[in-house]
Amino acid sequence: MLPGLVLRLLARRGSGRCVRQGCGHASSSRAREGARDARACFTTPIFYVNAAPHIGHLYSALLADALCRHRRLRGPAAPRFSTGTDEHGLKIQQAAASAGLTPAELCDRVSAQFQQLFREAGISSSDFIRTTEARHRVAVQHFWGVLEARGLLYKGLYEGWYCASDECFLPEAKVTRQPGPSGDSCPVSLESGHPVSWTREENYIFRLSQFREPLRRWLQGSPRAITPEPFHHAALQWLEEELPDLSVSRRSSLLHWGIPVPGDDSQTIYVWLDALVNYLTVIGYPDAEFTSWWPATTHIIGKDILKFHAIYWPALLLGAGLSPPHRICVHSHWTVSGQKMSKSLGNVVDPRTCLDRYTVDGFRYFLLRQGVPSWDCDYYDEKVIKLLDSELADALGGLLNRCTANRINPSGTYPAFCATCFPREPGSTGPSVRAQAEDYALVNAVATLPTQVADHYDNFQIYKALEAVSICVRQTNGFVQRHAPWKLDRESPADAPWLGTVLHVALECLRVFGTLLQPVTPNLADKLLSRLGVSDTERSLEKLFFLPRFYGQPCPFEGRKLGPETGHLFPRLDQSRAWPAKAHRT
Ligand code: MSP
Repeated sequence: MLPGLVLRLLARRGSGRCVRQGCGHASSSRAREGARDARACFTTPIFYVNAAPHIGHLYSALLADALCRHRRLRGPAAPRFSTGTDEHGLKIQQAAASAGLTPAELCDRVSAQFQQLFREAGISSSDFIRTTEARHRVAVQHFWGVLEARGLLYKGLYEGWYCASDECFLPEAKVTRQPGPSGDSCPVSLESGHPVSWTREENYIFRLSQFREPLRRWLQGSPRAITPEPFHHAALQWLEEELPDLSVSRRSSLLHWGIPVPGDDSQTIYVWLDALVNYLTVIGYPDAEFTSWWPATTHIIGKDILKFHAIYWPALLLGAGLSPPHRICVHSHWTVSGQKMSKSLGNVVDPRTCLDRYTVDGFRYFLLRQGVPSWDCDYYDEKVIKLLDSELADALGGLLNRCTANRINPSGTYPAFCATCFPREPGSTGPSVRAQAEDYALVNAVATLPTQVADHYDNFQIYKALEAVSICVRQTNGFVQRHAPWKLDRESPADAPWLGTVLHVALECLRVFGTLLQPVTPNLADKLLSRLGVSDTERSLEKLFFLPRFYGQPCPFEGRKLGPETGHLFPRLDQSRAWPAKAHRT
């Protein structure tokens, strides 16, 4: 048991009410693997509505969005993707009171802000759940009933610390003292620095302690269940210590804004149990359809909520007779100019302002290219401008311009590839051979890029996928620079086939880049692919075959008219440019 935590057992067993049992955990791992291939579900955390969204929230959603979009491109089955708002609990109840609103008013207002932000940022979720919805209440109360029927809940006295900001119970060892506003010493959470208060009340308690071994077996047997690895390791470390039982309800007189315990209105279900069940609600729980989607779910979460997802949630699931989730992908935090983002420091970065300034695709690219899940990343405006100007405007936009500009490609077509200028065998000799060793290195790099990118997505390293694309863009610019098509004589029978080949190869590289960038910069990729004349049905990863002419195959693009010219792919962001004056409420 935790120090500072006293649990007095009052021996209350399941009430004997009829509950539907959970299922879906008995299939062989092979069969599950097969089911996973066909069905996949991605989730973001559901966001608290006590304050407006910031860039950290958008980052969580973008990671999930990019993973899901990449999966869609791989086809054939469409994955599900859910996000939403976490609307119950003491934190929301208190925030509403201090804003002079009812909790429902605050929830409607802030949930709408998240929905609007996600629409604007191109988050392609298939479901937006609000925990105040009736379907969710049904799911949570059913889940509770299953736990109760399985004898996993009992009534006991909880005495210890509670942190309303983090909505969690804390042992004495996780509490420290800090000088408060009037100089007196205030107890705060060691981890988050948020104030804690002493609580002593009779609650329902979940027999979490029973799950230490099963959790350990799950994590040891599934080394990729939690990614990146240090977070998997951290979860196993927690299981080295005793796992105390968990209080899963609060007195309704204290917490009225929540879902009542079935059959006992004097207690409200703990907000984290309520919130975690959202992952089942969105796949139709408790109706039988949910079993074909669970456990094929990948949760994307921030590191601050790892324990809830890596320990409490799998234990609750096991308790309800269900498997732990397929995968938990964890990311670190964004700081701003080296400091933690906080309302009190006044340094919270409003994502809608950033989308206006840097464009939707620009800001998506920045967060996903610079965000490294294993460690915290720092945000400042100059960094965004520098990255976008160099990688999207100059390197990628410049490359497109070089291959499509009227003076170099006056026919406005995908020119023919000449196999004698660029023979398949490196080192071939002959009067028409023009390709050099570096050109073979380029072809090889771009040919293997889709697999590399897919591996990075599988390893939850989207930033590495973008880095790999960026390196190839640079290599392609080097190729164009090396062969300087602007110096080749279009009218000369010796130069013309090679000029066409250089442009053909560069356009093929661009087609691969455009296809691979779709999950991160969907509008920019669309603009790029449309300019190349690539139709909607030719943009999936299944159909991506780079430079078929080099491998002796026909190329459907050869000789095709390019799409219409639509200006710069990504206009440079000039630091001196006046920012749009549009203000957003934070
Ligand atoms: N409501 C809970 C989650 C329940 S999920 C069943 C919650 N909400 S939150 O709004 O506080 O946080 C939502 C997500 O935003 C978390 O993944 C959290 O890690 C992430 N971020 C919050 N601040 C962040 C940064 N500064 N940087 C990156 N992400 C951060 O926790």
